[in-house]
Amino acid sequence: MSVSNIVRGTVTATRNETRSAALFERARGVIPGGVNSPVRAMRAIGRDPLFIERGEGAELIDVDGNRYLDYVCSWGALVAGHAHPDVLAAIARAAAGGTSFGAPTPGEVALAEEVGRRMPVAQMLRMTSSGTEAAMTAIRIARAHTGRERIVKFAGAYHGHSDGLLAVAGSGLATAGIPASPGVPAAVAAETAVVAWNDPEALVEVTSGARVAAIIAEPLPANMGLVPAAEGFLEFVRARADECGAVLIFDEVISGFRVARGGASERTGVTPDLLVLGKIIGGGLPAAAVAGPPELLELLAPVGETYQAGTLSGNPLAVAAALATLELLDDAAYATLEQRTAALAAGLREAAGELPVSVAWAPGLLTVFFSMRPPRDLLGAQRCDAAAYGAWCRELLARGVYPPPSQFEAWFPSLAHGPAEIERTVAAAADAFAAIRR
Ligand SMILES: Cc1ncc(COP(=O)(O)O)c(C=O)c1O
Repeated sequence: MSVSNIVRGTVTATRNETRSAALFERARGVIPGGVNSPVRAMRAIGRDPLFIERGEGAELIDVDGNRYLDYVCSWGALVAGHAHPDVLAAIARAAAGGTSFGAPTPGEVALAEEVGRRMPVAQMLRMTSSGTEAAMTAIRIARAHTGRERIVKFAGAYHGHSDGLLAVAGSGLATAGIPASPGVPAAVAAETAVVAWNDPEALVEVTSGARVAAIIAEPLPANMGLVPAAEGFLEFVRARADECGAVLIFDEVISGFRVARGGASERTGVTPDLLVLGKIIGGGLPAAAVAGPPELLELLAPVGETYQAGTLSGNPLAVAAALATLELLDDAAYATLEQRTAALAAGLREAAGELPVSVAWAPGLLTVFFSMRPPRDLLGAQRCDAAAYGAWCRELLARGVYPPPSQFEAWFPSLAHGPAEIERTVAAAADAFAAIRR
């Protein structure tokens, strides 16, 4: 069946969304677009956002009382699902002793040590409140270390919204079709070269003769949908960084602690010079980190002169949530996450039947692409039928499944998504595929 037969713009089942609609109306008057982060607006799937009241395990409950199996899970931060009792207890214990001190605490030392045990390159880490800050800091360290300014990133990768990293970015920029954000100084943008993912020749061309401070990559890119490295490409990037004396930064904000104990670096066997961590490292609270060896991390003040700071960095509640979350992430948890993601990916592909749909997956994340074959790069992702994806997502929401509302994002099943939840998801997905075929 061809996607041209797919009905767009209508939903065959509906739910009561009266309270969400009223809140959205109010929100649009006081918050740009009614949301505090663009993709949440759900514009890319042609509908308005739902306002959430609470989360329980694998489910979200909206303000109208509708329940959804949640595959956004706070964009990957909630690997244990919503309101996990151990995580809540750790946060409550920490909160009872005060919410922030702006001074060192024992918990942040324990967290840095635990990250180091999982990720050997993380001999040291410096915490920030967001992945954006952590990626920005990694770039600053690389520039301070090399004395160079130029950075190389890959098209479709997203490393947060700092000026130098917005060029041809994935996530919300790909969703909204924004190649270069207004407000970024031309001089800053000029220091960022963008290379197609999985294109070794293009990487050689851009790095030849250029004084490159850093090559930054998502080792398992998930912000143009999930588009893994082709065989040997990550090794090639590693070797190229060494040849041109650039710092190799792996942004594992999504893949870190998700695809394996030691993240994508462990799964691929390719080790970066610096790591950017986020999402799971905050256990659902705002925290992120830049990590690496002392010769790079100790460029930061107060040891070195490279400046970086944060009022709430290493926040004790976030640190407690992180430690409780990492405690849950043992070998058995990773085996479960892998097996369940495999089952979900296979079930979704089967539910699509003869539709031109492919599913890319890795443990704990997947993307349902509306194309015959999973894309290899951003251009491939942009060729997917995003309108059909949107129509399918609207049908899913009407059937109690909350997918990422963009073709350029990943689904994040959590440890709370058991066999029963996966079965319900696949059944709803089959109905939703049938509805868009009509
Ligand atoms: C790979 C990657 N890096 C960095 C970021 C930015 O993190 P934050 O949203 O915490 O600033 C994100 C956010 O989704 C991400 O996916």
